[in-house]
Amino acid sequence: MFLKYLALSSLVILYSLMFIGGYVSAAGLGLSCPDWPLCPNGILPDSEFFIEWIHRFIAATTGTLIILTAIGVWLNKQSDKKIKLTATLAAIFVATQITLGALVIDLKLHAVLVAIHLGIGILLFAMTLLTVIFAFRLGKATIQTRA
Ligand code: HEM
Repeated sequence: MFLKYLALSSLVILYSLMFIGGYVSAAGLGLSCPDWPLCPNGILPDSEFFIEWIHRFIAATTGTLIILTAIGVWLNKQSDKKIKLTATLAAIFVATQITLGALVIDLKLHAVLVAIHLGIGILLFAMTLLTVIFAFRLGKATIQTRA
């Protein structure tokens, strides 16, 4: 019960993160916060770095939710192979994506890295969506039909 809403909230927040990422890129704000992991004025946002700070803050929230979902899936006795696979891949992709985000900044928005950042974001979205679908099916008995 709790697991499906955890998975669903990961998906909704991930979608908003990708939306903001697109804005960061299109508005040329990718290097507005040049440090990693925090912006120059520390934990609190500043108007100068606000959009990029929001992207990082939501990335940290998304990462936490996706990893908690994967842990929940492995702890749930009803979980089958499919949901274990998609939730684990989502956890791997989110960790890769956050590391890659740091490299994107470090290598001053290298075009190949930005393209990979988008590509992994799409794979991450696909795995999270499948996890949500499988989570909503957990525990539902399969309807047997007879000829
Ligand atoms: C779950 C984690 C993350 C996801 C799903 C994500 C997703 C995205 C997406 C979809 C874009 C738009 C890419 C494009 O339009 O080509 C983007 C842009 C960007 N992301 Fe992330 N991101 C994540 C984490 C991070 C982190 C931790 C950083 C670190 C600072 C970061 C830095 C950036 C930067 C700088 C851009 C703009 C690149 C540019 O100016 O072209 N991202 N992100």
